[in-house]
Amino acid sequence: MSDELVIRNLHVQVEGKEILNGIDLTIRKGEIHAIMGPNGSGKSTLANTLAGHPKYQITKGDILYKGESILEWGADVRAQKGIFLAFQYPMAIPGVTVANFLRTALNARRKATGSNGSSKAISIPEFRKLMLQKMQLLKLDQSFATRYLNDGFSGGEKKRVEILQMAVLNPEFAVLDETDSGLDIDALRIVSEGVNALAGPNLGVLLITHYQRILNYIKPQFIHVMVGGRLALSGGPELALQLEEKGYDWVKENGHVVK
Ligand SMILES: Nc1ncnc2c1ncn2[C@@H]1O[C@H](COP(=O)(O)OP(=O)(O)OP(=O)(O)O)[C@@H](O)[C@H]1O
Ligand SMILES: [Mg+2]
Repeated sequence: MSDELVIRNLHVQVEGKEILNGIDLTIRKGEIHAIMGPNGSGKSTLANTLAGHPKYQITKGDILYKGESILEWGADVRAQKGIFLAFQYPMAIPGVTVANFLRTALNARRKATGSNGSSKAISIPEFRKLMLQKMQLLKLDQSFATRYLNDGFSGGEKKRVEILQMAVLNPEFAVLDETDSGLDIDALRIVSEGVNALAGPNLGVLLITHYQRILNYIKPQFIHVMVGGRLALSGGPELALQLEEKGYDWVKENGHVVK
């Protein structure tokens, strides 16, 4: 089947409240889509729903991955099959080191996909080499490997480690929820370069952001504006600049759903 993620007329409730009411979006491999939109419009709700967070209840519509509905797949299955979410607010897991977390997640993914023609667990030296190489890409100090995941990490460090996870897991679809928020100027460039190094014909990206700034580094072909749980407007890269200039009231006045 085709290598696409298709979101079809998606309606989502959180604790009985409808947050998303009719999202239609198709992301093909090799494409980068950005979603912008006001606070509370439902961007993270969409991200968490795609990742399979159990709190988000799909009341209507479907999500198809390579032609197959994934609504019955748990978050673990989705991750193993190559759907990755970088959280807006990454959680700390005291007691689990970054290295252990990454190795466990990678092995679960390898087991599920049998990547490289085998489903065998990665050897420790091989894993170490991979992790250090990806840490270098993100200019993360090696000492992070033995620290507990996100425990006491600065906001920017957490975001960098999210992209480290992405680099190690090598997903096919990545949702990056405000990965740029909280990054200093150098970190923004480093993280963007990290994402660009992973981008290519085998990866589809959904980038959620409030700022045009990251789009100077990561170049989406499509920009969508979420307002009130719908994609109110879609366009090309020029839309980000128009938004910067005109604000969201302009979308509310002129928006229309473009598929
Ligand atoms: N558990 C919940 N109970 C009630 N409302 C919720 C719950 N979780 C989320 N919401 C509401 O859903 C709406 C959408 O939230 P969401 O986090 O998706 O917005 P967002 O577009 O990501 O915003 P931001 O730009 O601030 O990150 C908000 O109004 C939020 O208060
Ligand atoms: Mg959000």
